[in-house]
Amino acid sequence: MRIDILTLFPDMFESPLSCSIIKRAQDSGLVEIALTDIRDFSTDNYRKVDDKPYGGGPGMVMMPGPVFDCFEHVRKLSDEKGRVILLTPQGQKFDQAKALELSNEKRLIFIAGKYEGFDERIRIGLGAEQISIGDYVLSGGELAAMVIIDAVVRLLDGALGDEDSAKDDSFSEGLLEYPQYTRPEVFRGMKVPEVLLSGDHAKIAEWRRRQALERTKKWRPDLLKEIEKREN
Ligand code: 6GU
Repeated sequence: MRIDILTLFPDMFESPLSCSIIKRAQDSGLVEIALTDIRDFSTDNYRKVDDKPYGGGPGMVMMPGPVFDCFEHVRKLSDEKGRVILLTPQGQKFDQAKALELSNEKRLIFIAGKYEGFDERIRIGLGAEQISIGDYVLSGGELAAMVIIDAVVRLLDGALGDEDSAKDDSFSEGLLEYPQYTRPEVFRGMKVPEVLLSGDHAKIAEWRRRQALERTKKWRPDLLKEIEKREN
Protein backbone atom coordinates (compact mmCIF):
# COMPACT_ATOMS: atom_id res chain seq x y z
CA MET A 1 0.00 0.00 0.00
CA ARG A 2 1.07 3.56 -0.65
CA ILE A 3 -0.22 6.37 1.57
CA ASP A 4 0.22 10.03 0.66
CA ILE A 5 -0.51 12.79 3.14
CA LEU A 6 -0.97 16.40 2.05
CA THR A 7 -0.60 18.69 5.04
CA LEU A 8 0.56 22.08 6.29
CA PHE A 9 2.26 20.37 9.26
CA PRO A 10 4.37 17.42 8.07
CA ASP A 11 6.39 17.56 11.33
CA MET A 12 3.32 16.45 13.29
CA PHE A 13 3.54 13.02 11.64
CA GLU A 14 7.16 12.28 12.42
CA SER A 15 6.90 10.54 15.77
CA PRO A 16 3.65 8.58 15.25
CA LEU A 17 4.93 7.21 11.94
CA SER A 18 8.30 6.18 13.32
CA CYS A 19 7.10 4.06 16.24
CA SER A 20 5.76 0.58 16.80
CA ILE A 21 3.61 -1.24 14.25
CA ILE A 22 3.56 1.57 11.68
CA LYS A 23 7.32 1.82 11.70
CA ARG A 24 7.67 -1.95 11.32
CA ALA A 25 5.15 -2.02 8.47
CA GLN A 26 7.15 0.63 6.61
CA ASP A 27 10.50 -1.04 7.32
CA SER A 28 9.22 -4.34 5.97
CA GLY A 29 7.78 -2.72 2.84
CA LEU A 30 4.09 -3.38 3.61
CA VAL A 31 3.34 0.30 3.33
CA GLU A 32 5.09 3.37 1.99
CA ILE A 33 4.03 6.66 3.55
CA ALA A 34 4.94 9.98 1.92
CA LEU A 35 4.34 13.49 3.30
CA THR A 36 3.94 16.54 1.10
CA ASP A 37 3.78 20.11 2.42
CA ILE A 38 0.88 22.00 0.84
CA ARG A 39 2.72 25.26 1.58
CA ASP A 40 5.39 24.32 -0.98
CA PHE A 41 2.68 24.87 -3.61
CA SER A 42 1.77 28.39 -2.59
CA THR A 43 2.33 30.92 -5.35
CA ASP A 44 2.53 33.74 -2.83
CA ASN A 45 5.79 35.34 -1.60
CA TYR A 46 4.68 34.77 1.99
CA ARG A 47 3.75 31.12 1.33
CA LYS A 48 0.11 31.92 2.01
CA VAL A 49 -2.34 29.01 1.69
CA ASP A 50 -5.51 30.42 3.27
CA ASP A 51 -7.59 33.55 2.97
CA LYS A 52 -10.64 35.30 4.42
CA PRO A 53 -14.05 33.75 3.61
CA TYR A 54 -16.16 35.45 0.94
CA GLY A 55 -19.30 36.75 2.60
CA GLY A 56 -17.44 37.49 5.81
CA GLY A 57 -17.20 35.58 9.07
CA PRO A 58 -14.44 34.41 11.38
CA GLY A 59 -11.42 32.29 10.54
CA MET A 60 -9.55 31.51 7.37
CA VAL A 61 -10.36 29.17 4.50
CA MET A 62 -7.88 26.94 2.62
CA MET A 63 -7.40 28.34 -0.88
CA PRO A 64 -8.05 25.92 -3.75
CA GLY A 65 -4.92 26.78 -5.77
CA PRO A 66 -2.18 25.38 -3.53
CA VAL A 67 -4.23 22.30 -2.61
CA PHE A 68 -4.99 21.50 -6.28
CA ASP A 69 -1.36 22.04 -7.35
CA CYS A 70 -0.10 19.93 -4.46
CA PHE A 71 -2.63 17.18 -5.21
CA GLU A 72 -1.79 17.08 -8.92
CA HIS A 73 1.91 16.79 -8.06
CA VAL A 74 1.32 14.03 -5.52
CA ARG A 75 -1.03 12.01 -7.73
CA LYS A 76 1.73 11.64 -10.32
CA LEU A 77 4.14 10.15 -7.77
CA SER A 78 2.59 6.72 -8.44
CA ASP A 79 0.67 5.05 -11.29
CA GLU A 80 -2.03 3.94 -8.88
CA LYS A 81 -4.83 6.54 -8.84
CA GLY A 82 -5.77 5.97 -5.24
CA ARG A 83 -8.71 6.87 -3.07
CA VAL A 84 -8.81 10.54 -2.09
CA ILE A 85 -9.86 11.34 1.46
CA LEU A 86 -10.57 14.82 2.75
CA LEU A 87 -10.41 15.03 6.54
CA THR A 88 -13.25 17.17 7.86
CA PRO A 89 -15.71 17.07 10.77
CA GLN A 90 -18.47 17.03 8.10
CA GLY A 91 -17.33 13.63 6.85
CA GLN A 92 -18.78 10.17 7.29
CA LYS A 93 -17.84 8.84 10.72
CA PHE A 94 -14.81 6.53 10.72
CA ASP A 95 -15.23 3.06 12.23
CA GLN A 96 -13.66 -0.41 12.10
CA ALA A 97 -15.69 -1.37 9.01
CA LYS A 98 -14.28 1.68 7.18
CA ALA A 99 -10.77 0.79 8.38
CA LEU A 100 -11.15 -2.69 6.92
CA GLU A 101 -12.48 -1.28 3.66
CA LEU A 102 -9.54 1.15 3.34
CA SER A 103 -7.02 -1.57 4.19
CA ASN A 104 -7.92 -3.27 0.89
CA GLU A 105 -6.91 -0.27 -1.24
CA LYS A 106 -3.58 -0.04 -3.04
CA ARG A 107 -3.24 3.68 -2.46
CA LEU A 108 -4.77 6.26 -0.11
CA ILE A 109 -4.33 10.02 -0.46
CA PHE A 110 -5.20 12.04 2.64
CA ILE A 111 -5.72 15.79 2.56
CA ALA A 112 -5.54 17.51 5.95
CA GLY A 113 -6.55 21.12 6.38
CA LYS A 114 -7.47 23.66 8.98
CA TYR A 115 -10.78 23.31 10.72
CA GLU A 116 -12.44 26.51 9.50
CA GLY A 117 -12.57 24.60 6.31
CA PHE A 118 -11.61 24.05 2.73
CA ASP A 119 -12.87 26.15 -0.15
CA GLU A 120 -15.83 24.07 -1.35
CA ARG A 121 -14.25 23.71 -4.81
CA ILE A 122 -11.54 21.51 -3.31
CA ARG A 123 -14.07 18.84 -2.27
CA ILE A 124 -15.99 19.08 -5.53
CA GLY A 125 -12.99 19.37 -7.87
CA LEU A 126 -10.92 16.56 -6.40
CA GLY A 127 -13.82 14.14 -6.12
CA ALA A 128 -12.76 13.52 -2.56
CA GLU A 129 -14.62 11.41 -0.03
CA GLN A 130 -14.92 13.10 3.38
CA ILE A 131 -14.14 11.29 6.61
CA SER A 132 -14.47 12.46 10.23
CA ILE A 133 -13.19 10.57 13.27
CA GLY A 134 -16.00 11.70 15.59
CA ASP A 135 -18.36 14.43 16.61
CA TYR A 136 -15.93 17.00 17.98
CA VAL A 137 -13.76 19.60 16.29
CA LEU A 138 -9.98 19.27 16.00
CA SER A 139 -7.80 22.20 15.01
CA GLY A 140 -6.74 20.36 11.86
CA GLY A 141 -7.12 17.08 10.00
CA GLU A 142 -3.63 15.82 10.92
CA LEU A 143 -4.51 13.94 14.10
CA ALA A 144 -7.53 12.43 12.34
CA ALA A 145 -5.28 11.24 9.48
CA MET A 146 -2.95 9.60 11.99
CA VAL A 147 -5.82 7.83 13.73
CA ILE A 148 -7.11 6.46 10.42
CA ILE A 149 -3.65 5.44 9.18
CA ASP A 150 -2.91 3.61 12.42
CA ALA A 151 -6.22 1.71 12.29
CA VAL A 152 -5.70 0.82 8.61
CA VAL A 153 -2.02 -0.15 8.65
CA ARG A 154 -2.37 -2.59 11.53
CA LEU A 155 -4.92 -4.49 9.41
CA LEU A 156 -2.50 -5.06 6.52
CA ASP A 157 -1.50 -8.70 6.18
CA GLY A 158 1.70 -9.23 8.14
CA ALA A 159 1.57 -5.93 10.08
CA LEU A 160 0.89 -7.60 13.42
CA GLY A 161 3.25 -10.12 14.95
CA ASP A 162 0.59 -12.82 15.26
CA GLU A 163 -1.46 -13.11 12.06
CA ASP A 164 -4.59 -13.87 14.05
CA SER A 165 -4.43 -11.02 16.48
CA ALA A 166 -6.57 -8.55 14.50
CA LYS A 167 -9.41 -11.10 14.19
CA ASP A 168 -10.27 -10.95 17.89
CA ASP A 169 -10.09 -7.14 18.17
CA SER A 170 -12.90 -5.21 19.71
CA PHE A 171 -15.43 -4.26 17.01
CA SER A 172 -14.14 -6.87 14.53
CA GLU A 173 -17.54 -8.58 14.86
CA GLY A 174 -19.28 -5.49 16.14
CA LEU A 175 -18.69 -6.49 19.78
CA LEU A 176 -16.25 -5.36 22.44
CA GLU A 177 -13.36 -7.68 23.18
CA TYR A 178 -13.58 -10.35 25.91
CA PRO A 179 -11.50 -9.87 29.09
CA GLN A 180 -7.84 -10.90 28.93
CA TYR A 181 -5.57 -12.19 31.69
CA THR A 182 -1.89 -13.03 31.94
CA ARG A 183 0.39 -14.14 34.78
CA PRO A 184 0.18 -14.24 37.77
CA GLU A 185 -2.81 -16.49 38.46
CA VAL A 186 -3.68 -14.46 41.56
CA PHE A 187 -2.97 -10.73 41.75
CA ARG A 188 -3.88 -8.77 44.91
CA GLY A 189 -6.53 -11.30 45.71
CA MET A 190 -8.06 -11.25 42.20
CA LYS A 191 -8.08 -14.66 40.50
CA VAL A 192 -7.93 -15.51 36.82
CA PRO A 193 -11.29 -17.12 35.87
CA GLU A 194 -11.05 -20.92 36.31
CA VAL A 195 -12.22 -21.68 32.76
CA LEU A 196 -9.12 -20.01 31.24
CA LEU A 197 -6.88 -22.43 33.15
CA SER A 198 -8.95 -25.49 32.16
CA GLY A 199 -7.35 -26.16 28.79
CA ASP A 200 -10.84 -26.83 27.37
CA HIS A 201 -10.75 -24.73 24.18
CA ALA A 202 -14.43 -25.12 23.32
CA LYS A 203 -15.45 -24.01 26.79
CA ILE A 204 -13.01 -21.09 26.66
CA ALA A 205 -14.38 -19.94 23.29
CA GLU A 206 -17.94 -20.13 24.61
CA TRP A 207 -17.01 -18.19 27.78
CA ARG A 208 -15.27 -15.48 25.75
CA ARG A 209 -18.21 -15.09 23.40
CA ARG A 210 -20.60 -14.72 26.33
CA GLN A 211 -18.29 -12.21 28.05
CA ALA A 212 -17.99 -10.15 24.86
CA LEU A 213 -21.79 -10.03 24.56
CA GLU A 214 -22.30 -9.13 28.23
CA ARG A 215 -19.74 -6.32 28.20
CA THR A 216 -21.15 -4.91 25.01
CA LYS A 217 -24.67 -5.00 26.48
CA LYS A 218 -23.42 -3.25 29.63
CA TRP A 219 -20.97 -0.69 28.20
CA ARG A 220 -21.96 -0.14 24.55
CA PRO A 221 -25.60 -1.15 24.03
CA ASP A 222 -25.59 1.08 20.92
CA LEU A 223 -23.30 -1.48 19.21
CA LEU A 224 -25.83 -4.28 19.73
CA LYS A 225 -28.51 -2.14 18.11
CA GLU A 226 -26.17 -1.74 15.11
CA ILE A 227 -25.80 -5.52 14.81
CA GLU A 228 -29.59 -6.02 15.02
CA LYS A 229 -30.07 -3.41 12.28
CA ARG A 230 -27.53 -5.16 10.05
CA GLU A 231 -29.13 -8.58 10.59
CA ASN A 232 -32.64 -7.40 9.75
CL1 6GU B 1 -11.24 14.62 10.12
N1 6GU B 1 -10.96 17.04 11.09
C1 6GU B 1 -11.15 17.98 12.02
N2 6GU B 1 -10.62 19.18 11.84
N3 6GU B 1 -11.87 17.78 13.13
C2 6GU B 1 -12.38 16.56 13.29
C3 6GU B 1 -12.20 15.52 12.35
C4 6GU B 1 -11.47 15.82 11.25
N4 6GU B 1 -12.86 14.44 12.80
C5 6GU B 1 -13.40 14.80 13.96
N5 6GU B 1 -13.12 16.06 14.25
